[in-house]
Amino acid sequence: MASKTCESKGKEDWEEESEEENWEDWELWTNPIEELGDIVDVFEIEGLKGKTILDVGTDCVKPLYIALKYEPHKIIGITLDKPRFAGNIAEDSRLLTKTEIHFFVCDFFDDAKLAKILKKANINGKFDSILISKTLHHLRTGKCIARERGGKHNHREDEKCCIYEFKEEEIFERFFKYGEKVIVYEWFDPNEKDNDKIRGKGGYFTMTEWNDMLTYLCTNYRVELFRPERYHLTMKKLGETMEKLNRGDCICFCVEKT
Ligand SMILES: C[S@@+](CC[C@H](N)C(=O)[O-])C[C@H]1O[C@@H](n2cnc3c(N)ncnc32)[C@H](O)[C@@H]1O
Repeated sequence: MASKTCESKGKEDWEEESEEENWEDWELWTNPIEELGDIVDVFEIEGLKGKTILDVGTDCVKPLYIALKYEPHKIIGITLDKPRFAGNIAEDSRLLTKTEIHFFVCDFFDDAKLAKILKKANINGKFDSILISKTLHHLRTGKCIARERGGKHNHREDEKCCIYEFKEEEIFERFFKYGEKVIVYEWFDPNEKDNDKIRGKGGYFTMTEWNDMLTYLCTNYRVELFRPERYHLTMKKLGETMEKLNRGDCICFCVEKT
């Protein structure tokens, strides 16, 4: 049987394979750096040193970078699907940082499991900050109309058949049950196919949804906008903000109680 070693291959084959096979792996590490570039201004202002952070829908990589740069006390990441390297990051990060990092498979809507996690991780009271990066649009509590009618059904890309409503009052009330501040980052590409729509999981927010959410947030909370531009968000600034969002591809803001 031919042994499959690097030596047995020509250099060109080896280069080709490494480019094709490892590209996605590298992106696991490079995309979070790019995305953190849009969020760091919030961290700089908030000052995370010694603080506690709950990363909802974690990619298990951003917490390591955040720990190395900002030295928070603890970062707890929860997700529905923990990547295989999560345990290594949590364990081996001890060599590089004093920040405690822990990851758990847990649905943000599962209060009982969250309570167990907080106990296990020794979090008393609320987290100083909740980070919700590229995950807010998944937290939809509405029901699929078609599924409610019964029978088999395939989700349509335009979501006309199933409306996974996003209830900002409910979701932000839940955030403030667990944290003092909420840092939201969302990235959207209007030209890219959004597979979550086909899966019926609730795709990127539409401009109407952003408008409704930001209206609710700036009337009930203090909202500091960082992307597309840095300013304190008020109803007066909302029209201008929506125009900027329409032309951009990301938003980053911080919400806290007034
Ligand atoms: C698009 S990924 C974003 C990952 C990462 N935060 C980032 O910035 O790249 C969405 C993540 O949210 C997680 N997720 C979706 N719904 C969730 C829920 N209800 N509770 C916890 N995590 C959730 C998924 O498991 C997935 O890891």
